[in-house]
Amino acid sequence: MPLKSTPTRYGSIAMAIHWLTALAILALMVTGQMMDGPIEDARQIAILQWHVPIGLAVLALTLARILWWVIADRHPDPLGTGTQALAAKAGHAALYVLLLVMTLSGIALMALSGAGEVVFFGSTAPLPDFGDYLPRIPHGLGSKLMIALVGLHIAAAIWHQRFKRDGAMTRILPERS
Ligand code: HEM
Repeated sequence: MPLKSTPTRYGSIAMAIHWLTALAILALMVTGQMMDGPIEDARQIAILQWHVPIGLAVLALTLARILWWVIADRHPDPLGTGTQALAAKAGHAALYVLLLVMTLSGIALMALSGAGEVVFFGSTAPLPDFGDYLPRIPHGLGSKLMIALVGLHIAAAIWHQRFKRDGAMTRILPERS
């Protein structure tokens, strides 16, 4: 399987980044929802010990993905034409923006609140109230938007694969030999 994409298929680097990011976002959504609402400090600390490193990994993957497209690879040809191709492009661009908003607001939330001391360095101080910090707003709103956009993204992939039969899904999966 070639490292770089061709006009008809994604390359193995783009594929690997895509599926690793998808898995990590699922884990972030689940751990994020587990912290939604009243929660004991000890439980929230345990969840954040997973949520934060996975979130940082998503930022690293997103930056690597952007760099990869800019310096080394070219996207396969778009599947639709006209408005359909434009909608796909806009949806993908929105996902990139949201990934950056979510990861950067998460980092800002940890940095401004000083929660890192409690979550990672054994401080016995109580966890701060994240609601007191501004980045909590884009982090919360962004998570709802992310659920909606990822849902649309999956629905579009299924529609292409099942009804248009244009191989949208197979071109981002390893080739069967
Ligand atoms: C794509 C990346 C990310 C996604 C999808 C994500 C998702 C979420 C979700 C769904 C919540 C719950 C929001 C709510 O209930 O309103 C949350 C909370 C939180 N996230 Fe993230 N997150 C991401 C990255 C990060 C990063 C990189 C950090 C820190 C470095 C971080 C720190 C936090 C913190 C501290 C909370 C708890 C806020 C509270 O309890 O009020 N997140 N995240």
